[in-house]
Amino acid sequence: MTPDVFGRVAVVTGASRGLGAGMAVHFAAAGMHLGLCARHRPNLVVNTRPTARDGHVISAEPPFRAAVDVTDHQALSEFTDAVVERFGRIDLWVNNAGVLEPIGPLSQADPRAVARNIEVNVVGVLNGSSLFARHVRSRPGGGVLINISSGAATKPLAGWAHYCAAKAAVDQLTRVVTLEEAPHGLAAYSVSPGVVDTDMQAMIRHTDAEAFPEGARFRQIAADGSFNSRAWVAEHLLAIAFGTKRPTDVTVRIPDQPASSRAR
Ligand SMILES: NC(=O)c1ccc[n+]([C@@H]2O[C@H](COP(=O)([O-])OP(=O)(O)OC[C@H]3O[C@@H](n4cnc5c(N)ncnc54)[C@H](OP(=O)(O)O)[C@@H]3O)[C@@H](O)[C@H]2O)c1
Repeated sequence: MTPDVFGRVAVVTGASRGLGAGMAVHFAAAGMHLGLCARHRPNLVVNTRPTARDGHVISAEPPFRAAVDVTDHQALSEFTDAVVERFGRIDLWVNNAGVLEPIGPLSQADPRAVARNIEVNVVGVLNGSSLFARHVRSRPGGGVLINISSGAATKPLAGWAHYCAAKAAVDQLTRVVTLEEAPHGLAAYSVSPGVVDTDMQAMIRHTDAEAFPEGARFRQIAADGSFNSRAWVAEHLLAIAFGTKRPTDVTVRIPDQPASSRAR
C-alpha cells in the first residue's frame, strides 16, 4: 500500500512525541529524508532504509532535527532553509504540532491560555503553510501540504471552544491555500487522523466530566483499544500525498483502523 517515497523529503512539525514522532519513524522506514522540529528537539531513533538502485546501495541520510516553536515565524523560516540546504528541497510538509489545553468552559478559561492555543494551532499552521508554499513556488515541481485537523473542526464539544475553533480554522485556511497555491503546484489537505493514543489522549481521559463532559467516550475507546495506530495514520498520509489517487476533497478523515490490523 505504501507508495515509493524513497529519497523524498518531508518536514514534520511537533515530531518530538505522539503522532508526529510516529510519522517520523514510519516515513524514515520508507526511505524518506526528514526535517523534524518541536519545542524540544526531536531525539527519537529513526531507522532510515538503505535501498539498492542501479546496483548501488544507497542509505537515506539521518534526519535534520531542531528545537523550533511553530509560532516563531523567523525560527521556522530558518529551520526551513536549513532543511532545504541539507536535502535540496522539501516535497511534503506536515503541520502536526498542536495543543489541546486549556480544557473547560470558555467562561472559566484563562484568556492568555486561550490565545496561546489559537497561536499554536492556527498561527503555527499559517506559518508552516506560508513557508512551504513559498518554497514550492521557488523551485520546479509540485509539493504536498498536510495540515493535521480533528473531528473537533466540525463537531462542537463542550470544554473545547478554542480547540474546535482552531481546527475549523485549519480546515478553512487549507481550502484558501488550495485556491491560492494549486496553480503553483501545491496540493493542500486538512486531515483528521481519528483517535490516536498519545499524551493528548491521556490528558483527555484524565479530565473530569465538569470540564469535558464527552470524556467517557474517549475512556471507552481506550478500554476497547480501538485507536488508530500511528503507523496506520502515517501510511494513509503517504497514500494521500504520493499515492496514485489523490483525494478530491481538501478535508480528509482517515478511516478507523480495523481491529485485525491494530497490532501494528
Ligand atoms: N491524538 C489524537 O487522538 C488526535 C486526534 C485528532 C487530532 N490530533 C492532532 O494531531 C496532532 C498531534 O497530536 P498528538 O496527539 O500527537 O499530541 P501530543 O502527544 O500532545 O504531541 C504534540 C506535539 O506537538 C509539539 N508542539 C506543541 N506545541 C508546539 C509548538 N508551539 N511548537 C512546536 N511544536 C509544538 C509537541 O512537542 P513539544 O512539547 O516538544 O513542543 C509534540 O511533539 C495535533 O495537531 C492534534 O490536534 C490528535
